[in-house]
Amino acid sequence: MLNPFRPTFGASPRVWAGRDAVLTDFARALEGGPGNPDRSLLISGSRGIGKTVLLTELEDIAVKHGWVVLRASGRENIQQVLVQSIIPEAISRLEEAPKRQLTGFSVAGIGSVSTQVTETEPAERLVSRLRTLTGLLRETGVLITIDEVQDVDPHDLTQIAIAYQDLVRDDLPVAVAMAGLTRGINQLLNLPGATFLRRARHYELGPLTVDDARRAFEETALGSGISFGAASGAAELSMGYPYLVQLLGFLSWEQAARDSKGSIDADVLNRAAPEALERLGLQVHQPALRDVPPRQLEFLQTMAAIEAEDARPEVSVAHVAELMGTSTTSLSDLRQKLIDRDLITPAGWGRVEFAQPYLGAYLREQRRPKRVQ
Ligand SMILES: Nc1ncnc2c1ncn2[C@@H]1O[C@H](COP(=O)(O)OP(=O)(O)OP(=O)(O)O)[C@@H](O)[C@H]1O
Ligand SMILES: [Mg+2]
Repeated sequence: MLNPFRPTFGASPRVWAGRDAVLTDFARALEGGPGNPDRSLLISGSRGIGKTVLLTELEDIAVKHGWVVLRASGRENIQQVLVQSIIPEAISRLEEAPKRQLTGFSVAGIGSVSTQVTETEPAERLVSRLRTLTGLLRETGVLITIDEVQDVDPHDLTQIAIAYQDLVRDDLPVAVAMAGLTRGINQLLNLPGATFLRRARHYELGPLTVDDARRAFEETALGSGISFGAASGAAELSMGYPYLVQLLGFLSWEQAARDSKGSIDADVLNRAAPEALERLGLQVHQPALRDVPPRQLEFLQTMAAIEAEDARPEVSVAHVAELMGTSTTSLSDLRQKLIDRDLITPAGWGRVEFAQPYLGAYLREQRRPKRVQ
């Protein structure tokens, strides 16, 4: 028996939950002609919300439609990697198999690319390579995907934008899908040269609905030898956060297997939950808090205390200010910095809440004195 849950960043879930609108819109955009505005899309959301796997799902849809997928990451010099490695590789694959009826495929950058003398007209190079590539295709197209787009050098993004618009203007079959952290993307959108991004169809990924999460627990466990009896409880605990769905599912499944139980009932779930939250802390909260300066941390800890006291997620900034012995206005800078770090989000007038589930609980836990044996 194999555990069907996959609590790994970037690993596609065995059972897909929610996000239907994005997937169907995109399939329709590929089937429609060039110039369909839904052929450029932008996905934003917080850590672990499922951006990378959604991008992978879009790539799969494109490949099923016979499209060629070029995958790049914002952490590398995209324009250069596309021109020097990804596109040439795609072209040679197409040229090697001219007779066969080609089905789609995907090509990713090899990471390190030998640095060459800087091109004078990088966008032109990109356009001409992409033209060659689309020229080899019959009735399909090229999808470029860019993950971690918040890290893209704005200059690089401009080159991609120029190239993309050039091809769209000539009715060539191209599409682009980008994904990144909400804040970083919003900052990019504000840049003067970002018309390209602003025109893209923008989806902000939120948590799954409790219903979708419940179904994900049940259906993922289906056929694994252990059924998910306590799926509703697990869905509540997960707060619809996709990474936690996989983590909680995985640990509950392990627990049931150890207990030789055929179903994950409330008892199994309750025994697995603490470890799931602990791992969430280690893998999501701890790295997110690593470089937070003391004053910002104090804001977060104060928030965490208020959250527990009021038993509601939205915390009033005025209350935080009061406990920190300062004024609301003097906190506005700290507040903004924490929003930029994707740690908190605005939650209605004068209020904020934690951007990640259980972050408040994690902070409260950190403050407790350590137990020594
Ligand atoms: N729609 C979904 N249904 C079920 N599980 C999902 C879904 N979306 C994501 N997951 C699971 O959530 C986890 C995180 O997904 P992913 O790596 O795509 O997050 P991310 O938003 O790219 O995070 P980061 O910002 O850290 O890159 C993975 O284990 C994945 O399998
Ligand atoms: Mg990701």
